[in-house]
Amino acid sequence: MPLVSPAEAARLLQGEQPVGLPTETVYGLAASGLSAAAIAAVYRLKGRPPTHPLILHVLDDPDAHAVMDDRAWALVAAFWPGPLTLVLPRRPHLPDALTGGFPTVAVRSPAHPVAREVLARAGLPLAAPSANRFGRVSPTTAGHVLAEFPELPVVDGGPCAHGVESTILDLSGPEPALLRPGAVPVEELERHVGPVRLGGSTPAPGTLPSHYAPRAAVVVAEDVEAEAQRLRARGYRVATLPALPPEAYARGLYARLRELDAQGVEVIVAAPCEARGVGLAVNDRLRRAGAGREPPIG
Ligand code: TXA
Ligand code: MG
Repeated sequence: MPLVSPAEAARLLQGEQPVGLPTETVYGLAASGLSAAAIAAVYRLKGRPPTHPLILHVLDDPDAHAVMDDRAWALVAAFWPGPLTLVLPRRPHLPDALTGGFPTVAVRSPAHPVAREVLARAGLPLAAPSANRFGRVSPTTAGHVLAEFPELPVVDGGPCAHGVESTILDLSGPEPALLRPGAVPVEELERHVGPVRLGGSTPAPGTLPSHYAPRAAVVVAEDVEAEAQRLRARGYRVATLPALPPEAYARGLYARLRELDAQGVEVIVAAPCEARGVGLAVNDRLRRAGAGREPPIG
């Protein structure tokens, strides 16, 4: 297994190589955010359309300070380092490959100590999408990353604490807009910036209806056992995801989806999560995991 140390990862990143990196949300497929070639390698590995821009990961971002308004400062003070991504006006020196040609850039400062060590050693901002193939389930352990990218050097930082991706808030317009619910609950953001609009004015890339998808079909049902029984009676191989408190549901969600895929389950019947805190993100991922695939009917 190509597990590497933070020092080795930093050296590879400086040499424009991609590296698997733990964060507090999910593992990232990191590359120098200043190198168009390294970013191109990430798109190739993921099989991601070039119009889906990447998040720039920073220790702190002095370059962003010039484009940060009061809302951004308040949020950075409250939530960085942590699982909040801010969409800010783009700065001119960033490669087009990073921003997908958008006039904005998404930035976050991860809290995971290993991610921070690698950022410090590399001395570079790092572009890092989740370390999975496009449209699939995000990885929450080093093993998940290696299962998809066996040749990729990966730093093992243990299982991710949150288990779902960062919250993405667009601050490039007059009203803060939630582009992706995530590990920071929207109600906490609202305490600092007032009402947050759900969804962007432009269709946010990566908010495709079908995303975060296991191979199995995913059905969300209030009565998990009844729905599972009904589907079993029709001959499907069915597994269930019972309701859990939001944090626990989020932390284990992607690992469970991967395990069930590995077991050859055909339908996953999931209980909806309580819609508070990170529960909004859990329900969003369950919905996307289930979209675009024929759920068994009848
Ligand atoms: O928790 C996370 O955010 C993880 C870890 C690795 O940090 N990263 C992650 O990256 O989830 P990714 O690439 O899987 O998702 C980034 C999302 C995509 O939906 C992308 O389209 C959106 O951020 N995005 C990036 N730049 C944007 C921009 N300028 N405007 C709107 N959306 C943007
Ligand atoms: Mg992703």
